[in-house]
Amino acid sequence: MSTRVLVVASLLLASLASGLALRMGDYGTAPWMLSRGSGLVAFGLLSLSMVMGLLISTKAADGTLSRPFVFTIHQFVSVLSLAFMAVHGGALLFDGFLRFGPLALLVPFAAPYRPFWVGLGVIAAWSAAAVTASFWFRKRIGQRNWRRLHYASFGAYVLALGHGVFSGTDTSLPLVAGMYVISFAAVAGLLTYRIGVASRKARPAPAGAARRSGMTSAARPRSR
Ligand code: HEM
Repeated sequence: MSTRVLVVASLLLASLASGLALRMGDYGTAPWMLSRGSGLVAFGLLSLSMVMGLLISTKAADGTLSRPFVFTIHQFVSVLSLAFMAVHGGALLFDGFLRFGPLALLVPFAAPYRPFWVGLGVIAAWSAAAVTASFWFRKRIGQRNWRRLHYASFGAYVLALGHGVFSGTDTSLPLVAGMYVISFAAVAGLLTYRIGVASRKARPAPAGAARRSGMTSAARPRSR
């Protein structure tokens, strides 16, 4: 066995052992509070990432913000959101009341608490992880597959929204409810605009419009 494999195996064993030891401690309501707070931050960041992505595809921010800047923020915020999702789920392992196990975090609908709505959160986390990971595999999987995979982010967003609204304790707080409403309005508004832009592009320009746009008969393709 190589030294590298031995080091990785011992690190994994050490983290497993310390994780199990930590799970025996009593942390009161701290893990629950941490999970709730980080869940809200993860959702806020996921919303921001969706908005940034839609600003790129609609070109709505062109002229105001540089596209490479928006792309960098989009990628950075996506990774940050994943990190907060990990804290959000991971903190539940240390909650002495609900007793979440690792399987409940990884397998949809296996949670001991509100299994359906938490299950949607697990699927959202997996989908968001796959879409974010694809930033680094774009060349290998090709532009077309990368785009197709990127559409899963809309599913992840809707599932995360349903999960947050219906499994969250804080949904009725005006600040939290306001965040959900603003987030949904921004994402749905930009998506509608995006669909409008795409359908305008797909529609052939009427003959009059070609004339008005200055396309002369010489420039127009000749009919045979
Ligand atoms: C492994 C995946 C996940 C698990 C096990 C999980 C678990 C939970 C649980 C048990 C709650 C209820 C907490 C409460 O009553 O406040 C909750 C709430 C919430 N989760 Fe998740 N979740 C997961 C993924 C996600 C993802 C991907 C997001 C969004 C990006 C998210 C955002 C939220 C939000 C915003 C709340 C509401 C928090 C509140 O109202 O205080 N969760 N989650």
